[in-house]
Amino acid sequence: MCSAGRRQRVLLWGVLLAAWEAAWGQLRYSVPEEMPKGSFVGDVANDLGLQLPALPDRGIRVVTEGRTQYFALHGKTGHLVTAERIDREQLCRLVEKCVLRCELIVEGEMQVYGIEVEIMDINDNAPSFKEIEVEERISETTVPGSRFPLAEAHDPDSGQNSLQSYELSGDEHFSLAVQTGPDGDQRPELVLAKALDREEAAFHELVLRAIDGGDPARTGTARIRVTVRDANDNAPVFSQAEYTVRVPEDVPVGSVLVTVTATDPDEGLNGHVKYSMKKAKDMASHIFHVDAETGEITLLQSFDFEEGNFYELEVQARDDGDLFDMAKVLITVTDINDNVPEISVRSALNEISEDAPSGTVVALLHVHDHDSGANGEVRCSLDGNVPFRLEKSLEDYYRVVTARELDREQQSEYNVTVRASDGGWPALQSSRVLALRVLDVNDNPAEPAASLTRWLVLAVAAVSCLFLAFLLLLLALRLRRWRRSQQQQQLLATAGAALRGVPATRFVGIDGVRAFLHSYSHDVSLTADSRKSHLRFSAASCCDTLPARPPPDEPAPLLGDEEPASDSPADPAPAPVSSCGQFVSAKRPSRIVC
Ligand SMILES: *[C@@H]1O[C@H](CO)[C@@H](O)[C@H](O)[C@H]1NC(C)=O
Repeated sequence: MCSAGRRQRVLLWGVLLAAWEAAWGQLRYSVPEEMPKGSFVGDVANDLGLQLPALPDRGIRVVTEGRTQYFALHGKTGHLVTAERIDREQLCRLVEKCVLRCELIVEGEMQVYGIEVEIMDINDNAPSFKEIEVEERISETTVPGSRFPLAEAHDPDSGQNSLQSYELSGDEHFSLAVQTGPDGDQRPELVLAKALDREEAAFHELVLRAIDGGDPARTGTARIRVTVRDANDNAPVFSQAEYTVRVPEDVPVGSVLVTVTATDPDEGLNGHVKYSMKKAKDMASHIFHVDAETGEITLLQSFDFEEGNFYELEVQARDDGDLFDMAKVLITVTDINDNVPEISVRSALNEISEDAPSGTVVALLHVHDHDSGANGEVRCSLDGNVPFRLEKSLEDYYRVVTARELDREQQSEYNVTVRASDGGWPALQSSRVLALRVLDVNDNPAEPAASLTRWLVLAVAAVSCLFLAFLLLLLALRLRRWRRSQQQQQLLATAGAALRGVPATRFVGIDGVRAFLHSYSHDVSLTADSRKSHLRFSAASCCDTLPARPPPDEPAPLLGDEEPASDSPADPAPAPVSSCGQFVSAKRPSRIVC
């Protein structure tokens, strides 16, 4: 290299320096760069006035500092020529004026001449960008006029050959501005000329061209790809403002009833739509579920048409930028015929008199079907050919009435079947049987209340009969006793009459009746008081009134023929014992008595 290594030069040529600098000054040449080896630089011999033939003999050499010898002296012509291809940009990277220095040494004369060769730039370099693909991201909300610096191009050539200008092409949305930097460099800037709309164009392809001043000019280009950033300027929009669906009430749990869809033209999260149900205060949120991602509305629990047959939901589609849209979902549940008509008997007779007039009400029924529409319309009928008919009463009430008079001898009981069927397809039906007994007219007075009276009367009559039988029995006993005593008196009277000659029969009549009545009244009082002190009384009266034990040879009694004729001697009179012994034995063992 020819750069000034003054110290070395002093070391080599120290003695000579002062002489030739003073005498000769400098030789100056210029040569364009990139010339082929051996190109002419300057006529050194001529310029120095040297005798040409003598040059080699005089030991003339060109010396360049450094390893590379760029120049040589052509021996025959005395011309300075290039010894290498010279690249100005490589030699003088940052220096505007590129000058190589070398020395011409004339050894025989001990002379040295300085030569400066300026390397002239040629436009051998085009401007270039470090990156030929440039990505720019610009929000669509950016206001026109905004500037975005771009990378500069570089041209190593100097002067006119270096970068002179920029050009932008591609799109009317952008223009180019070039600023001049503090050291005179040019700085290109992208200017937004027209507002961006990502939904219209998400990308803009631009070409930036850098041009130098050479002749011909050289250019370098870079491709600029502008991506328009979304500004979430779009809210999601439902495909329908209202979704209307009709579903049968027996649709299974988990079924997708409807799918709502909203679209959002924004990109990325701003265009990501999530669905939700607007928090409903009613039951809807328990019955329906909206899938946040798919918009599917599914059923969480089974419908019951009779509980609810219409639902209105509000669904929301929201993007991540919090813009949203609302839509209504109207769900109509359609009835299916799943309810059987119900018949309830509100009132009914079990019996009816056969002379009840035609039109007599025997039952009041209520029919109801939980289904709606035709599925809930109930028709009633009576089965078979029966002497009854149905009459519509209030709303859902029916009366079963007799269609004519009934004849017990023809049919004494009826099982009337009432049938209710709804208007569904297929129809559902149910039935009830009313059992009805036909009463004979003669049985008829036996009203339910009279029946009790009848029983009471029967009971009283029975008691009375028993009492009467008891009295008769007592009477019979008395009579028997009286006859016995009568017989004894008759014996005495006969004996007395025989003595006094009076007919006995007259006494028997009057006395006998008196005695009988006496004993009877006595017994009645006994019976009446028996509740108070029957023991004492009965023992007294019984035993008092009883006659002495009849003699063993006495004939069989007149009454109570069933009694054993052979009374044992230990036995008292059998009949009285049985009558009063019943009272006694209630309180005390019977050994006291009789
Ligand atoms: C009515 O039904 C009852 C019980 O089902 C039955 O015992 C009776 O015989 C039926 N009467 C008529 C007249 O069908």
